[in-house]
Amino acid sequence: MRKKIVAGNWKMNMSLEEGLRFARSVDQYFREKPAGKAEVILCTPFIHLPGVAEIVKSGKVALGAQNCASEASGAYTGEVSAFMIKSTGAQYVIIGHSERRSYYNENDKLLNKKTVLALNSGLKAIFCFGEVKEEREAGTHFIIVKRQLDEGLFTLPVEEMNKIVIAYEPVWAIGTGLTATPEQAQEMHQYIRGLVKEKYGNDCAKQMPILYGGSCKPSNAAELFSKPDVDGGLIGGASLKKEDFIAIVEAV
Ligand code: 13P
Repeated sequence: MRKKIVAGNWKMNMSLEEGLRFARSVDQYFREKPAGKAEVILCTPFIHLPGVAEIVKSGKVALGAQNCASEASGAYTGEVSAFMIKSTGAQYVIIGHSERRSYYNENDKLLNKKTVLALNSGLKAIFCFGEVKEEREAGTHFIIVKRQLDEGLFTLPVEEMNKIVIAYEPVWAIGTGLTATPEQAQEMHQYIRGLVKEKYGNDCAKQMPILYGGSCKPSNAAELFSKPDVDGGLIGGASLKKEDFIAIVEAV
C-alpha cells in the first residue's frame, strides 16, 4: 500500500505569530485524532520553519518548505539552501511549483538541480508540474507533463525515487476555483504512473505517491481521492482554514 498524503501549501501567507498559532492548533487536532492512513504535511514559508518544527515534534504532522536555492551554499544573498531547510527539522521541500515556474522563470533544468540538492541534503522533494490552460485546450497536456518529468525528475537514479512525492497541479486549476474533474485527474495520474513505470519499473511506480493540486476543497476532495491513482492532495487556499484542511485530510 502506498502512502496517502495531504500537504498544505501556505504560499506567502501568515505572519510568524499567525502561522505558529495555526500550526499549534492543527498539530493539537491530529495529536488528539490521528490522521489515520494519511500523512499530513505543512509547507510553510521559511520564517515559520524552526518554530513549526518545534510545535510538530511529536511527529503527527510533518513539515516542509516551499522552495530551496539552486546552489548548495555561499554568496547568494537572500537565498535559503536545502541544507539550511533540513537543519530546521523540516523533512520536505516543494520543488517546481507553477508559481515558481511562471513568476521566477524556473525551468526544468534548474528544478532538476534543486531536486538533486534537496535529496543530497536529506530532504524529500514534492515535485510539482502541470500544464497551463492553453496547453490543455490544445490537447498537448500529456506531452508537456512528460517533458517536465523527463527533464526535471527522471534523471534521478531509481534508489532516490523513494524520496520523491509527485504533485500534478494543472495550472488552470490553481487558485481559480476550477478543479480538474476526478476523471481528468485520474486520467493524468494514471499516465504519470505509467511514465514512472516505464522509466523505473513497476515497484517504483506502485509505491510512488501522486498528489493532485488545484482548487481542492472539502466539497471535492473525497471524490478526487477516491480515484485509484490519486494518492492525496497538495492544498493551497483551503490549507489556510483549519476546518477545511482537516476535512480534506479526513476525506482520505
Ligand atoms: P489552490 O488549492 O489554492 O488552488 O492552490 C493549489 C496549489 O497551488 C497548491 O500548491
